[in-house]
Amino acid sequence: MIATVRSARRLEGVITLPGDKSISHRALILGSIASGRSRLRGLSPGADVQSTVRCLQELGAEFDGSILDGRDLHGLHPAAEPLDCGNSGTTMRLLAGLLAAQDFGSELTGDESLSRRPMDRVVAPLREMGALASWPPLRVGGEAPLHGVSYTMPVPSAQVKSAILIAGLFADSPTAVLEPVRTRDHTEVMLRAMGATVDMDGLRVQVDPVTRLEPLDVEVPGDLSAAAFWLVAGSLVPGSRVRMPGIGINPTRTAFVELLRGYGFKIREFNRRYAGGEPVADLEVTSAAGSRPIQIGGDNAAEMIDELPVLAVAATQLPGRSVIAGAAELRVKESNRIEAMEEGLTAMGADITGVDDGWVINGPRVLEAARVSAYGDHRVAMALAVAGLIADGRTEIDGAECVEISYPDFFDHLEYLC
Ligand code: S3P
Repeated sequence: MIATVRSARRLEGVITLPGDKSISHRALILGSIASGRSRLRGLSPGADVQSTVRCLQELGAEFDGSILDGRDLHGLHPAAEPLDCGNSGTTMRLLAGLLAAQDFGSELTGDESLSRRPMDRVVAPLREMGALASWPPLRVGGEAPLHGVSYTMPVPSAQVKSAILIAGLFADSPTAVLEPVRTRDHTEVMLRAMGATVDMDGLRVQVDPVTRLEPLDVEVPGDLSAAAFWLVAGSLVPGSRVRMPGIGINPTRTAFVELLRGYGFKIREFNRRYAGGEPVADLEVTSAAGSRPIQIGGDNAAEMIDELPVLAVAATQLPGRSVIAGAAELRVKESNRIEAMEEGLTAMGADITGVDDGWVINGPRVLEAARVSAYGDHRVAMALAVAGLIADGRTEIDGAECVEISYPDFFDHLEYLC
């Protein structure tokens, strides 16, 4: 599908964002091994979360859209076929942790993009725990129980950390993970809510083995990483006011919001509350001119890795030389996001140079409509659509249907807000 995005005069309205993708995957995976029936409301409607649902059903879990019948820790059965994780790295890595601890073997596959993504980062710690695990193709499980380990992660990754913690539930002693940078902690928060003992101390997290997990009753908050596109679009399109109720504002996810505020963008929070153990607020963005170039690197970049493509769009409108560094991980996401954004924004007239671990962007530049490619990557498609809203003319985005992965209503919301 080619999506056409026209220059917007202003963005105005209230939109309901899809349920948080990270929390949705975790609720389904952990709920499937709980002892009892979980109630899961507001799950992400995206294709990635559907991949998790389908895999769990193949493994014997029953799910009808909001009620998930947990199978207990040891009640899943082997799938008849290799498990198809589609485009979803979270599905593949978190399930690898769960399935590595089963006494049966599983094979996990995915689409072309997922098949290219590195899985050795999850295989290595699982093997250290005594699991049978190999890649490619990704095969895990058949040798239980596992041993608790203390694992120092070479790259920051919430998916790998979660896989280790989930495997650790089945180990014969506590399992600790030491992260180089704090990453999203939804697995830890949810495991605690299910009765597991999880100690969090700075960059170290430890989980004790469990004999059972309590079922969940969660209302999944709106996805802040999806809201990020409107936070930037609403800031850059003059005269805008966009309100998004019920967005998850877990502190391990909000570095991007703090950063935008620090550069002069106006993002307000109302109605702070908790939903399913996670902090939530209504967010409102009104347009504002950013005052200086962006400088981020290292830890900062890891904390907002999913928001960096749209941050690059924001940087094209800021005065001076923005440097977004420390983000080499962008090269192994659903696409090579460094190249995809460099190509798309360059075609639109931005002054952007991709480097090993990010971009250097000189702004402000007036963007012009162009025909660009999403490279099958939902976050690239949405970031380029935001660029299209501030560009002169009609931007065409090739392969824009990939927004289905995390935000199927994205283009409907765009039309409504315009
Ligand atoms: C996620 C972790 C991040 C993120 C992805 C979702 C998660 O990936 O980019 O969209 O739900 O744990 P990495 O763990 O590979 O950094």
